[in-house]
Amino acid sequence: MSSVSLHHISKRFGEVMAVDDLDFEIGQGQFFSLLGPSGCGKTTTLRMIAGFEFPSSGQILFNDREVTYLKPNLRNAGMVFQNFALFPHMTVFENVAFGLQARKVERSEQEDRVLTALIQVDLGGLGTRPVTQLSGGQQQRVALARAIVIEPEILLLDEPLSNLDTKLREETRDQIKELQKRLGITTIYVTHDQGEALTLSDRIAVMDKGVCQQVGTPTEIYRSPVNPFVARFVGNSNVLSGTVEAIDADGMLVSISSDVKLRVARTESLLPAPQASVTLSIRPESIQFVSKTVDLPNVFSADLQRVRFSGSVIDSEVTLGSEVLRVKSLAEETVPEPGSADICIHVDPAQIYCFDK
Ligand SMILES: Nc1ncnc2c1ncn2[C@@H]1O[C@H](COP(=O)(O)OP(=O)(O)OP(=O)(O)O)[C@@H](O)[C@H]1O
Ligand SMILES: [Mg+2]
Repeated sequence: MSSVSLHHISKRFGEVMAVDDLDFEIGQGQFFSLLGPSGCGKTTTLRMIAGFEFPSSGQILFNDREVTYLKPNLRNAGMVFQNFALFPHMTVFENVAFGLQARKVERSEQEDRVLTALIQVDLGGLGTRPVTQLSGGQQQRVALARAIVIEPEILLLDEPLSNLDTKLREETRDQIKELQKRLGITTIYVTHDQGEALTLSDRIAVMDKGVCQQVGTPTEIYRSPVNPFVARFVGNSNVLSGTVEAIDADGMLVSISSDVKLRVARTESLLPAPQASVTLSIRPESIQFVSKTVDLPNVFSADLQRVRFSGSVIDSEVTLGSEVLRVKSLAEETVPEPGSADICIHVDPAQIYCFDK
């Protein structure tokens, strides 16, 4: 088991700065996710850790050993690629044995290790099948077995669930987590799905345009986003521009339009000046529908645009002044019909995040 340290890692492809000064450490045995939108540099980062790509600058260390320019087969990292990259003309067994052959492991030991790896991913008995005759979920597990059979110090997974349907995705996600815990292996997991990252990870790095925006535990990233990008990407938050109208002991009043002023609770991290331009972020689940007569701060009349039921939650959109806000309610909460009279929403002042513009 290894820790992985990235020291000021950058990667430039011609004009494109694919990865820009990443600098963090992943502890031994940790499940660490790289989370961000398409094109933000996740695969490039993983490929540099695996040795398929070399950084333009910076250093990569596994424990105290520098590996920045080592070839992949010399750094003992197992990788599951974004598209699985199985060999279609080979059986399950041959696919999994591939890395052992490349490492010149003796035949009888190869057999033992492949069979063990297949059992670990619940594919015992399928060794002789051509991989083309497997379901998507089974192929994904062959790719996983191929990565763990070399007994890597580090497991690298690039969007391993993206080709699976929803139910299989959840099952396989739980299997990956269980396997990772059982083997205690340092794991770096790439995803653009915040739910996956929050569920699986010990720590997460949120990336945008090659730059690391925040590193933290799922709770830190979700509860205390450091900027509007993280708030929007991880919490699907509503992001609004405003101006500080007044500051008092409880917090401040921020106007987002001429007739909508939001009360925002005091935060330690930001003490804006009067008239400062700020960005506010509000999670969809922090907005509630309330009756007009309720006596709370931040109750506003709003137009309800759209309501969508999706099992346990109800997603809707309301207009508040000139802004459209996403609202998420639990199925058992009362959500008004679009077009009803006197629709009011409430936002808890402590649930509004305020950022310097
Ligand atoms: N070999 C390459 N040559 C030139 N540009 C590249 C190369 N590989 C990646 N890029 C560029 O670097 C940036 C980061 O790409 P990368 O594949 O790391 O993104 P990603 O976060 O994995 O995206 P996705 O979620 O779509 O897989 C993109 O702008 C991409 O076009
Ligand atoms: Mg990618």
